[in-house]
Amino acid sequence: MPIKLGIIGYGGMGGWHRKNAPKVDGVDVVAVYDIDHSRVEAAKEEGLKGYDSLDDFLNDKEINTVLIATPNHVHKELAVASANAGKNVIVEKPVAMSMQEIDEMIDASKKNNVVFTVHQNRRWDKDYCKVKKAVEDGLIGKVYTIENRVHGSGGIIHGWRNKKEYGGGMLLDWGVHLIDQILYMIPNKVVSVYAELFSVINPEVDDYFKLLMKFDNGISAQVEVGTFCLRSLPRWFVGGNNGTLVVDDFEGHGGITKINNLADEFGSEIVETSAGPTRTFAPRPDEVKEEIELPDANPQWTDFYANVRDVIDGKAELIVKPEEVKRAYSIIEAAFKSNETGKSVEL
Ligand SMILES: NC(=O)c1ccc[n+]([C@@H]2O[C@H](COP(=O)([O-])OP(=O)(O)OC[C@H]3O[C@@H](n4cnc5c(N)ncnc54)[C@H](O)[C@@H]3O)[C@@H](O)[C@H]2O)c1
Repeated sequence: MPIKLGIIGYGGMGGWHRKNAPKVDGVDVVAVYDIDHSRVEAAKEEGLKGYDSLDDFLNDKEINTVLIATPNHVHKELAVASANAGKNVIVEKPVAMSMQEIDEMIDASKKNNVVFTVHQNRRWDKDYCKVKKAVEDGLIGKVYTIENRVHGSGGIIHGWRNKKEYGGGMLLDWGVHLIDQILYMIPNKVVSVYAELFSVINPEVDDYFKLLMKFDNGISAQVEVGTFCLRSLPRWFVGGNNGTLVVDDFEGHGGITKINNLADEFGSEIVETSAGPTRTFAPRPDEVKEEIELPDANPQWTDFYANVRDVIDGKAELIVKPEEVKRAYSIIEAAFKSNETGKSVEL
């Protein structure tokens, strides 16, 4: 059955979905509902049905799937109303503002036997897919540390994202993407979370945060997002017991350095370096180093819609599952708590 998509919230991301969803066979955007009349008019000018009333929109029988792209504070009420109207529901990230809201959304989707998923599109980012494959294929041995970061320099957070009541701040905005990426790569249990949030130049919400997750297999994963970083560190740093991986950017540039023989110990003499005399921090000789390329990956964000289409047709399993969305949100809740208490939160 083709997806006949109705979009709630025709702003930046609603417009993005309008442009990209129809690139997938069997996915059409047919209607828009927005509380801003000018956005409804814009939709009509583009040949879509435009609604100023939620009830009228939800009564449109042509719409079988609703995509919610509003500010975060109204995701829950709109998702529950859509599920109760018998529509499949796709919600933008972050799914909601509390675990209780997520539970209500999942309950409504189960009660009405509709599909419920969240647009965690960064599972299809090129840089991420390369890192995930390298880790899963054991290219750097046993991983002990992962750093997943985004440093931007724009600084000022615009519009509703700058207000707490709308679900603003970077932990909810970008944090949920980067946490989801880590959890989708490491299936083990997270045993503790420690986080520090800062309002560097945006007084009401966090515009810089650093979060540490410890997994029961010993892996330590750091997620860091900063909006006012005028110089930046690489997008990914991953350490394993047989190599080091760095990805510089969203394009996935970077590489892996290994040594060709772990047992090949180089001399125990102290070496004079720019850091002074040292053995441990002396550079490895080039002949023992092996540079290997990152795995190839060419994911497409539009694969998200194709998966939802196939799930609705009963041909596939959902890629972004409600229980995974809850798992990511439990880390966000723990991070807010850790920041408040100044302590690590055991899970
Ligand atoms: N997945 C991603 O990569 C990604 C990227 C950007 C934004 N988002 C998410 O998309 C959502 C929307 O963000 P945006 O940047 O498009 O915001 P936006 O401000 O550009 O657009 C929001 C739209 O929702 C409308 N709206 C507000 N309240 C409404 C309500 N109660 N009912 C109907 N319409 C309402 C507004 O009038 C506006 O047109 C957020 O949840 C955000 O986190 C996701």
